[in-house]
Amino acid sequence: MPRKLFIKTYGCQMNVYDSGRMADLLAPLGYEETMTPEGADLVILNTCHIREKAAEKVYSELGRLRALKDQRKAAGGDMLIAVAGCVAQAEGEEMGRRAPVVDLIVGPQTYHRLPELVAQAHRVSGAVLDTDFPAESKFDHLPESQKTEGPTAFLSVQEGCDKFCTFCVVPYTRGAEYSRSVSDVLAEARRLVAGGVHEITLLGQNVNAYHGEADDGTWSLARLVRALADVPGLQRIRYTTSHPRDMSDDLIAAHGEIEQLMPYLHLPVQSGSDDVLKAMNRRHTRDVYLRLIERIRVARPDIAMSGDFIVGFPGETDSDFAQTIDLVQQTGYASAYSFKYSARPGTPASTAGAQVPEAVKSERLTALQQLLDAQQVAFNHASVGKTVPVLFERTGRKAGQLVGRSPWLQAVHVEADVAMMGKLADVTLVEAKANSLAGVLQAAEPAGKVA
Ligand code: 5AD
Ligand code: SF4
Repeated sequence: MPRKLFIKTYGCQMNVYDSGRMADLLAPLGYEETMTPEGADLVILNTCHIREKAAEKVYSELGRLRALKDQRKAAGGDMLIAVAGCVAQAEGEEMGRRAPVVDLIVGPQTYHRLPELVAQAHRVSGAVLDTDFPAESKFDHLPESQKTEGPTAFLSVQEGCDKFCTFCVVPYTRGAEYSRSVSDVLAEARRLVAGGVHEITLLGQNVNAYHGEADDGTWSLARLVRALADVPGLQRIRYTTSHPRDMSDDLIAAHGEIEQLMPYLHLPVQSGSDDVLKAMNRRHTRDVYLRLIERIRVARPDIAMSGDFIVGFPGETDSDFAQTIDLVQQTGYASAYSFKYSARPGTPASTAGAQVPEAVKSERLTALQQLLDAQQVAFNHASVGKTVPVLFERTGRKAGQLVGRSPWLQAVHVEADVAMMGKLADVTLVEAKANSLAGVLQAAEPAGKVA
C-alpha cells in the first residue's frame, strides 16, 4: 500500500529544493506525494523563520492539521505531522510544547535522517526532535535520484552564512557557511539535464561566497558557472542570493562572457544609508554597492537588477530612508523585494533601543514599494517590441496559453501549442503589464502568412 505524503513549503527557494529532496528520501519507504493534506499519512511543513508572520502561519496551519489528524484517528487511521526547516530549528522543543500535535521536529541540516526519524516517531509518544548541526553533511547522505518536473530546476550549492547581519536569523537556523563539492554539483546538474531540465538556478544563502572543493583546489562560483556552461543541453544558468562583498571580479567578468549565464542579478543591499548599513553589519557602504553595479553593467549592459530592502531598521531616520530612495533611483531595479523590519529573537538588532514605530515602517514601505513598482513597470514597458528567447515552463490560465520566462526573469504569456512546453523559442513582446508581458511566438507565424 503506498503511503501518502503532503509537503507544504514556506519561504525561500532553498526550502523548495529541500522539500524536493525530502520527497526523494521518503519515496523508497513507499511515500507518494499528494497535493492536499486530506488523507495524507505524513504531512511535512517545511518552514521559514526569516520574518515574524511566517512562523505564525505555521502555527495556524498546525491548528488546521490537528482537526484533520483527529478525523483520521477517529476513522481508525493516523497522520504523522512533521515540522522541518528554519522555524523547527529556531523553536526546537518549544514547538512541541506550543503545538503538541507535532510528531517530529527536524532542522534544515538533519533532514537526511527523516526515514529513521519517521520510524522513531511511529514508536514513541511526544515529539521526536533533531535540530543538530551534525559534522557530516546532509548532502553526502541524500539519495541521488531527484525527479525533475519541467524545464527548470533549483540546485543547492551553498548553504548557511557567516556574515551575521544584525537583523538576520539565517546564521543561526542554517548554520555556518558550507559549499558542496564541485563533483557533486556537476553530477547533480548532469542528472537534472538528463531528466529534461534546460535551466538551473544555483542556490545558496550566500551563493556567490561559494568555495567548493575540486581535485585541483577550491573553485569559485564563477569557475563553477563556467564548468556548468559546458554541460551539453544546459541552456540557462542563474544563481541566487548574493552578497555585495562576494561579488568578485571573475564573477562580474563571467556575466559578460558566458552566454548561458542569464542577465539577471539578485543583489540585496537592504538600505541606502551608510549609518544603517553599518548598524546592520553589512560590511559594505552605499558607494561600494553603487560602484559594483556600475562595473556589472559595464560587463553586461542589459543586466536586470533585483534586490532586497528592509525599512524601519532600528534607528533608521527619515534622512536614512531618503538615502534608500535615492539609491533605488540611482540603480533602477527590474524587480525587488521590500520588507518592514521584524525583530527576530536572538539577533542583535532585536534588542536595539531605537525600534521604529509600526506606522512609520508602513509609511516608508508604501513609499518604497511605489517607487520599486514603478521601476518594474518601466522595465517591462521598455521590453515591448523586442524579440527575446522564452523558455516555456507551464500552461497559462487561459486555454491555449503557455507561460515562460525571458532572460530577465520576466513572466511572458504566449498563445502556443502545448508541444512547446519545456522548449526555448523566440517571442516578440507586445504588451507589458505590472508583473508580466504578453508575447507572440515567432515560429508559429510562418513567413508569408503575416499580411
Ligand atoms: N526583518 C525584515 N526583513 C528581513 N530579511 C531578513 N531578515 C529580516 C528581518 N529580521 C529580509 C532581507 C533578506 C530577505 C531574504 O529577507 O531583506 O535579504
Ligand atoms: Fe542573513 Fe544574507 Fe546577512 Fe547572511 S548575508 S546574515 S543570510 S541577510
